[in-house]
Amino acid sequence: MGLSEHARRDDELYAIRRRQPYGIEIDGLRLCVAEDVFPPDLGYSPRRLAAVLRRYTPRRALDMGCGSGYLALVLSKNGAREVWAVDNHPPAIACTTENAARNPPLRVRAVESDLFAAISPGATFDLIVFNQPFYPSTTRRGVFGMKRDGGRPIIERFLTQARGFITPETVMLMPFSQVAGGENDPGAVAAQLGYTSRIVHRESDGPHAHVIHEIRAPGSRPDADRRGHVLV
Ligand SMILES: C[S@@+](CC[C@H](N)C(=O)[O-])C[C@H]1O[C@@H](n2cnc3c(N)ncnc32)[C@H](O)[C@@H]1O
Repeated sequence: MGLSEHARRDDELYAIRRRQPYGIEIDGLRLCVAEDVFPPDLGYSPRRLAAVLRRYTPRRALDMGCGSGYLALVLSKNGAREVWAVDNHPPAIACTTENAARNPPLRVRAVESDLFAAISPGATFDLIVFNQPFYPSTTRRGVFGMKRDGGRPIIERFLTQARGFITPETVMLMPFSQVAGGENDPGAVAAQLGYTSRIVHRESDGPHAHVIHEIRAPGSRPDADRRGHVLV
């Protein structure tokens, strides 16, 4: 996907932003989608990630780039005992906090942070989900908290920092859509950084494939014992 296609998609995002705020119900969760917060009902990724999350049973989980908090709340609903929801976009943190309050007894810890910057060194997670910005924003201000570092730069920074917060059993889930351009594929970046990855979900929409990557620490096996995961 070239720059003009990125710009066309950004125009679509701005049109959605003009209709915010609005309320929705997904997966039994009552959510407010506040102004300039990524809509969890947009595109494939949030709902497909939510479906794939049901296969895992983490005790301690992190939703990186939480937006409305939808995936963090899904993790809490699925039984994770401790769920962190991180975003560097203040409207997303306010929206996640509001959505957690709307859905008792679910609980999430919402933290404003540039990726892992505000997370205590030494903390580790059994599962990290990151529905990352797919490509660099074509506008200076960005939209829904997604800025010029979308795509490959943010994926590289995320996977480099993540080394300090994972164990050999940690699972990281990241989506990718071919429309974003192969250079922005988290599976390719993960391989270059020495991670092990495999595709755990794939579907097609005309000529484009949409996938979800499961990424693990360098050298770990995809079927490794999930010690941090609660047995179901
Ligand atoms: C595609 S949205 C995903 C939102 C939500 N997880 C979902 O699936 O509905 C990407 C999110 O990443 C956040 N983000 C972008 N750069 C970030 C960074 N450096 N640190 C933390 N979050 C970031 C954006 O603010 C945005 O909320």
